[in-house]
Amino acid sequence: GMPSHVRIVEVGPRDGLQNEKNMVPTSVKIELIHRLVSSGLSVVEATSFVSPKWVPQLADAKDVVEAVKNIDGARLPVLTPNLKGFEAAVAAGAKEIAVFASASESFSKANINCTIEESLARYRDIINSSKKLDIPVRGYVSCVVGCPVEGAISPSKVAYVAKQLHEMGCMEISLGDTIGIGTPGTVIPMLEAVMEVVPVEKLAVHFHDTYGQSLPNILVSLQMGISVVDSSVAGLGGCPYAKGASGNVATEDVVYMLHGLGIKTNVDLRKVLQTGDFICKYLGRPSGSKVAVAYKM
Ligand code: HMG
Ligand code: MG
Repeated sequence: GMPSHVRIVEVGPRDGLQNEKNMVPTSVKIELIHRLVSSGLSVVEATSFVSPKWVPQLADAKDVVEAVKNIDGARLPVLTPNLKGFEAAVAAGAKEIAVFASASESFSKANINCTIEESLARYRDIINSSKKLDIPVRGYVSCVVGCPVEGAISPSKVAYVAKQLHEMGCMEISLGDTIGIGTPGTVIPMLEAVMEVVPVEKLAVHFHDTYGQSLPNILVSLQMGISVVDSSVAGLGGCPYAKGASGNVATEDVVYMLHGLGIKTNVDLRKVLQTGDFICKYLGRPSGSKVAVAYKM
């Protein structure tokens, strides 16, 4: 049945901003994170310790983490693709991290310049180090229904990568429809395959809204027992290595649907709307949240 409480993982400061062409000042990123935490979001993905040549927008990861690491009341994970990133994240004060694998060989190459197996080996090294420091590690699987290069991805591939991440010690596995191509018709068989190898309590869903399918996909995920949902304030974002991929499902829209279903989130919708307004005004663009647009009418 449906969960009574859903944990939202806010990915706006990371997934939302990583694709921004114009450099967002570090101070704006820090204020965004503060406002998201004040809205009641208990997990806010803050930034990534990746190559600044690959993702110039997040080159200030160290400064962002140093400024927000002592915020109370929220977990602030950061992405790390290799040991170099992991060590830099820990040195800056990160207390939680995420690693990101792909179910598509082509996307793995495009995104992190290695094969799926090479990435899994890197993540085993990261997890071995993280265990000594008691740092929890979340694992992402990208391209869980489709890849920008290869097209459809089979559920068994997704299940394989999710199982590997789970077995190496990831505390949660987030299933990413990177290009937002899935519908309940493809998401349900994918989730069924993954749930055969990873307990549902360990799963999260991460939908990009390119084809406008995120909310129905989240609804069927909830019906299948998943209770962790990734989203991005104002629907910011996209992936620099997945051409045409639009932002994540908007946090405001997810909160609105969950509260409509009587599901608790601890998130204050009004405050998230104000936070979305803040970042959209800064970026000079309309919100990607339908709920934000409706509340303004
Ligand atoms: P590479 O070029 O193969 O790396 O990149 P390398 O090990 O050969 O090193 C090349 C240079 O990068 C060296 O510097 C390294 O020091 C440096 P140089 O000697 O040339 O000056 N380097 C680093 N610098 C900073 N931090 C690091 C780091 N590692 C190496 N951690 C690499 C491989 C993985 C580094 C690169 O491909 C990369 O940074 N990729 C990140 C791409 C990315 O951030 N993508 C977006 C996030 S994933 C996503 O959005 C999907 C998700 O949302 C889920 C979904 O939607 O499906 C999670
Ligand atoms: Mg993403």
